Amino acid sequence: VLLHEELAGDEVLVVSNREPYLHMRTRNGIEVQRPASGLVTAVEPVMRACSGTWIAHGSGSADKESVDRNDRVPVPPNNPAYTLRRVWLSREEEKGYYYGFANEGLWPLCHIAHVRPVFRSSDWEQYVAVNQRFADAVVKEARTDDPVVLVQDYHFALLPRMVRDALPKATIITFWHIPWSNPESFGICPWREEILEGLLGSTILGFHTPFHCKNFLETVDRYLETRIEHEASTISFGGKLTQVEHYPISIAWPEQMHDQPGIEECRISVREEHGLPADHLLGIGVDRLDYTKGILERFQAVERMLEAHSNLVGKFTMIQIAAPSRSSLEEYQNFEARVRAMVQRINARFGSGNYQPIILKAEHHDADQVNRYFRAAEVCMVTSLHDGMNLVAKEYIAARDDERGVLVLSQFTGAARELHEALLVNPYHIEQSAESLYRAVTMPEVEQRDRMRSMRSLVKDFNIYRWAGRMLLDAARLRQRERIMTRIR
Ligand code: G6P
Repeated sequence: VLLHEELAGDEVLVVSNREPYLHMRTRNGIEVQRPASGLVTAVEPVMRACSGTWIAHGSGSADKESVDRNDRVPVPPNNPAYTLRRVWLSREEEKGYYYGFANEGLWPLCHIAHVRPVFRSSDWEQYVAVNQRFADAVVKEARTDDPVVLVQDYHFALLPRMVRDALPKATIITFWHIPWSNPESFGICPWREEILEGLLGSTILGFHTPFHCKNFLETVDRYLETRIEHEASTISFGGKLTQVEHYPISIAWPEQMHDQPGIEECRISVREEHGLPADHLLGIGVDRLDYTKGILERFQAVERMLEAHSNLVGKFTMIQIAAPSRSSLEEYQNFEARVRAMVQRINARFGSGNYQPIILKAEHHDADQVNRYFRAAEVCMVTSLHDGMNLVAKEYIAARDDERGVLVLSQFTGAARELHEALLVNPYHIEQSAESLYRAVTMPEVEQRDRMRSMRSLVKDFNIYRWAGRMLLDAARLRQRERIMTRIR
């Protein structure tokens, strides 16, 4: 799918909370970092392909030093392809809108990972105000009265309606990167109607799976007076139509891995680095340190496997890369403490001498570093308790151009709806995950290849350009229809 054809000269604006490039002040001066965010991983290649402007919260410690007077910075830094326009938030705005309503309210509300959402009126007020600030930035950046605005995620549920009010002819495509819960669960949000009305300012509202779309339609049906066409998956509210569709997100398929070290080199160097013998078995986990990711359950599965298959003690290690995330929230600090305590306990139980069954690397790793681990590990474990898509699963598959390696994947990820050849597990069922992990590390090469090949061909075809292309094609059709209707009227 050719993005520039779908867009045919239209102006594209993206809005997200997280920015694609963070300028950080470090001991070596200012360094550019890529954040650990599935959203950024997915949307960035799209922006590179179609240029335009990306509006995001400037949160890097040296962001302010990297912009010109208009708060705009051309990115990627070494090879500019589009503009990053930063919005600066006060500490209070960030606390209420980002930490508070988005991450203590909506995040646990939508994930249902048994962490109780917290709703405070003061957070909500900041959430409304910050949505308005970003909507104003969209309007100010827009050069035409009918731009294509791509709104990303749960930080901006109100923004579609705000932009719609200011730019009635805009095509607003909102993508919700996290799950959408059932009406009962969603109903505890004190501002559920406002959130739904805000989202219905969108021309298209996208989720990863048909299941999330269905949950959304049912939630709207329960709490708002609208007309819903279930067959067409449209909602008509206040004389405007919103198309609700599923668009499973993906990654940019790496055409060749030849700029990467070879598989054998990765296998050897990662093992050497950790003082492990060449035939040592490795598992890899890569997540933000977040309670939705099932990291504790994953470690318990490792423990259970070593208990049940003692021949693997001393022979198997799980390397867990865990990027710190939202760490000023208490829930995240507690979670990190629990993760560290569990690693210590399991290592004390099964470790000896140099051997540790779990190696925790709780720091930021860039894409090349992560790739090296993917290429070195026999198994990748993705055990989210609930996850919109989970792109780590797809990245592991993309990294295995040798067609080896096994993916153990939670059935509660969007990815599980596509990657049928992974070993699907219920992460709440520790014994089952342990047995799947055992099956993965002992899987014959032929079976690994068959499964990997099939998943590789799927991720290659259904890549991120396809995700964006399908959405933009649908938008182009609706735009065309709108133009014809206006002419007739
Ligand atoms: C999830 C969300 C993204 C977010 C990312 C990282 O993938 O869907 O919107 O950017 O987590 O979280 P953070 O709070 O660090 O941006």
